[in-house]
Amino acid sequence: MTVPTPQSPSQHFPDLPQFSGFMKPCRLEGKVSNLEVYGEIPQDIDGTFYRVMPDPQLPPFVENDEWFNGDGNITAFRILDGKVSFQQRYVRTEKFVRERAAERALIGKYRNKFTDAVRFKIRSTANTNVVYFNGNLLALKEDSPPYALDPETLETYGLYTFNDQLPSMTFTAHPKFDPRTGEMICFGYEAKGDGTPDICYYSVAPDGRFLQTVWLCAPVVAMIHDFAVTDNWVLFPIIPQVCDIERLKRGGDHWQWSPETPFYIGVLPRRGAKPTDVKWYTYRNCFPGHTSNAYEDESGKIILDLGISNDNAFFWWPDAQGNAPEPSAIATQLKRFTIDPLSPSLDLSLGNPSVIQSDNCEFYRIDDRFATQPYKHCFFDMMDVTLGTDFASISAQLGGGHPLYNAVGHLNIATGKTDVYFPGKTHMTGETCAPQVSNQHSLVRFPAAANNGRTCHPANAVLATGEGCRATAKTLDEEGALEFYYRVNVAYFILNDKRAFIGYRAFWGIDGVLFTLVTQDKP
Ligand SMILES: [Fe+2]
Repeated sequence: MTVPTPQSPSQHFPDLPQFSGFMKPCRLEGKVSNLEVYGEIPQDIDGTFYRVMPDPQLPPFVENDEWFNGDGNITAFRILDGKVSFQQRYVRTEKFVRERAAERALIGKYRNKFTDAVRFKIRSTANTNVVYFNGNLLALKEDSPPYALDPETLETYGLYTFNDQLPSMTFTAHPKFDPRTGEMICFGYEAKGDGTPDICYYSVAPDGRFLQTVWLCAPVVAMIHDFAVTDNWVLFPIIPQVCDIERLKRGGDHWQWSPETPFYIGVLPRRGAKPTDVKWYTYRNCFPGHTSNAYEDESGKIILDLGISNDNAFFWWPDAQGNAPEPSAIATQLKRFTIDPLSPSLDLSLGNPSVIQSDNCEFYRIDDRFATQPYKHCFFDMMDVTLGTDFASISAQLGGGHPLYNAVGHLNIATGKTDVYFPGKTHMTGETCAPQVSNQHSLVRFPAAANNGRTCHPANAVLATGEGCRATAKTLDEEGALEFYYRVNVAYFILNDKRAFIGYRAFWGIDGVLFTLVTQDKP
């Protein structure tokens, strides 16, 4: 096979799973008003559901490019007075603008600037997450500062540096919001550039003023994708995927699994901390996934709930010997670490962790009003092969690799009971979402990393609600305990070929909304 070079980019996407079937790039921008609606959208739903997806606008010139490397394309579903409109627009990153002008891919391998065809100031794809902050929609990629967009038009304002207050070269894709103070709590890792061990922790007031800035040095240069915050502490779980700048210079991958590296959790006082105040706790080598929540118990111990896999969940970045687990063998459980921030011992191997959800699950979402606080309810994607999914019939549509999740789970943490919603034997699910209510916007985060939602075609978009839905859902009241009465709504985005569908199955509550993505047969 001839490997395309920066001088000879292909005019078509490679015949690889990450560019095929359900994963075929969408590359569409546009608006559709008054989406067709079957059933009835509750009149009291007034808000916009945003999602972002990696959606490469041009074929890559690197071999076997990762879908993580696609351009951020943002979708807004605006819901008002029972009507829905659709808009989709790419983030105008430096990468996007220069590649569009050049009519060819210019960026090289995922997070390896040494493989680029030109020199970029900012390599962000802005494709991982989207949050609303202080009047802006922020499109996030953890290797760069945010890009700011107009929430109404999706026009890109530009790179967002908080009026030049941003001290770090990087910004997490998973900032946390304290529902009591309105603060956005953030960090960047590799914060002084590729291969640096520096972490920059910062918190930002709702009006954009920086409140805290602390520079830390990590024990290893490795990935910190998600983190957690309590009233008084900030926690940094380090994934043992390590970076070596010399490997990058040789054209290698940014990440390599390190089975000899323990799982580190950095614990830093949230306010008034010095760099030396951080404590690095250790547990045996494992793969920490997304966090669910963290809080402090009555005795001041920190409770940290997050997904833990015994194996390298990012199997496409193997270890130095090329070893990686079989994807279908990877399973993540929701586990609870209990950390005494005053303990002289930094070894977490005694008494930790406990399993609070034993099924294979990820992409935990809570009612964000309980972020940083004790909570009872957790929603997540799960894979349960016993539910009856017809893997043979959906595999051809999936494109990118093995099926990830086939159900949505709801764990009542107080009782340990899990309700499982199985959407059907030809369905897959994406990340569930609860709304963030901010000013007049009701924002729902829907990272593309979870949903693969890239092949919708707005000309054929249909939003269907009400009839024919058989799911039930329960959610949260002020105490996180009441059952609300839910109607279940389904939105289907029908593909051109009519054989495959992308659908949104939305669980509407009195004050809660949960979304999950499904692929399924025609309604
Ligand atoms: Fe994530």
